[in-house]
Amino acid sequence: MAQPRDQWGSRLGFVLAASGSAVGLGNLWKFPYIAWNNHGGAFVLIYLACILAVGMPVMMSEIIIGRRAQTSPVPAFGVLGHPRWAFVGWLGVASGIVILAFYAVIAGWSISSFLQCMKWSFTGYETPDPNAFGDFLGQGTLQVFLTGIFLTVTSFIVSRGISRGIEKATKILMPVLLSIMVLLVLNSFSLAGFGQALGFLFKPDFSEVTGHSVLEALGHAFFTLSLGMGAMITYGSYMKKSESITKASAAIVVLDTVIALAACIIMYSIIFTVPELQNNVGKSTVGMLFVTLPEMFYTKMSLGVVLGPVFYVLVAFAALSSTISLLEVVVSLLVDKIKWSRNKSTAVSALGIMSLSVFCALSNGAWSWASTFEFFGHGEKGIGRLFNNRLFADKQGFLNLFDHFSANWMLPVGGLFITLYAGWILKRPESLEELALTREDGTVHWFYSTWLFFVRFVAPLGIGWIILKVIMGADFS
Ligand code: TRP
Repeated sequence: MAQPRDQWGSRLGFVLAASGSAVGLGNLWKFPYIAWNNHGGAFVLIYLACILAVGMPVMMSEIIIGRRAQTSPVPAFGVLGHPRWAFVGWLGVASGIVILAFYAVIAGWSISSFLQCMKWSFTGYETPDPNAFGDFLGQGTLQVFLTGIFLTVTSFIVSRGISRGIEKATKILMPVLLSIMVLLVLNSFSLAGFGQALGFLFKPDFSEVTGHSVLEALGHAFFTLSLGMGAMITYGSYMKKSESITKASAAIVVLDTVIALAACIIMYSIIFTVPELQNNVGKSTVGMLFVTLPEMFYTKMSLGVVLGPVFYVLVAFAALSSTISLLEVVVSLLVDKIKWSRNKSTAVSALGIMSLSVFCALSNGAWSWASTFEFFGHGEKGIGRLFNNRLFADKQGFLNLFDHFSANWMLPVGGLFITLYAGWILKRPESLEELALTREDGTVHWFYSTWLFFVRFVAPLGIGWIILKVIMGADFS
């Protein structure tokens, strides 16, 4: 006999798991870095506009589709009567695999930074060699090992299912994460650079914005909210009918945005406190999170010996609640579609993803072929060069390529189809029922019409316009 579908045990369970998915390395590592390179203020405003105009409506669309269909993204469209749309689900599963493959590598670094900080806290700080982090990235076996640990812990939680696995884990991870965040923000009030950090973040200067920054802001809005690949369709499929999709979406979006801004305040306050740092930050994606910060904790902060290790617990927890959701998308496909057991599905997915992760783990110096790899070859001219430039912004190495391609192409394209589906294909009475926005007297609440306007017009046109601009060669400087 078929078992009833597992469900979140409580309303808070869904919100915590979904915001756990949203809050991750995107907030702590990517956002502070891209906001810094795009000169703060104006970029932050564009990003907020993307979150409101595209992120929130797409979030609601995904949850509506998932909860209505009660199944994972690939079969979901068929269950709702449109099997031809299943490709959107497949695209999502592909994005999940690509993202998890590189994400687990970076997540693994948080384990070693944590151990490093623990050592410094107990035996005293020693200024590391300037190349220490590069050397660490070049140690192939260690890189693969750390990635493997992270994927193993993720698999363990996912294999235990929704209420007993994912919900239980995020109920511990998220409160710890939030408390650490509050502690770190309170600490940054006391730093000399706090005021300047706020100015950088919130004083817009639109002369700094390029076409590429707009695409980056949009891509990041998808990435940080875990949208465009069916993660929220999957999580929504375990949601009870009695819960409000609108309220849950708003809570997730607000929490994710507040945490991204808080992460900037924490990091920029430190950067502006130590003037020499400002020129070095933009040089590498990982520099800020894994090199600059640990040094600062131990050299510039009185509470650093405590805050250092605690900070990497935060990073690891944030990453873990996100890798869980990425793996769950793949696992739920195997469980729902091929009817494999959850354990078998988890083991097979995790091993498959790990084999891709190895290429990413070795692509930061350990293996030079993987580190300089470009999909269309290295030639100076021709169509391959053009593809490398347009599709991959001339990035090299598996980790960078996977990151760039998934965030800037796979997620926006997936998100475009999801909004088109929710706005134009799914019948109005169906989305209206899921959102429960009919008043007692039978009239439709204004919020429903607003949502529909955004998913029908604003979000698809916005996404489509940006994708088109980039294909036509918008400023890639
Ligand atoms: N949102 C996560 C972050 O900001 C990453 C993530 C988890 C994700 N699940 C996802 C991104 C699904 C896209 C789709 O770090």
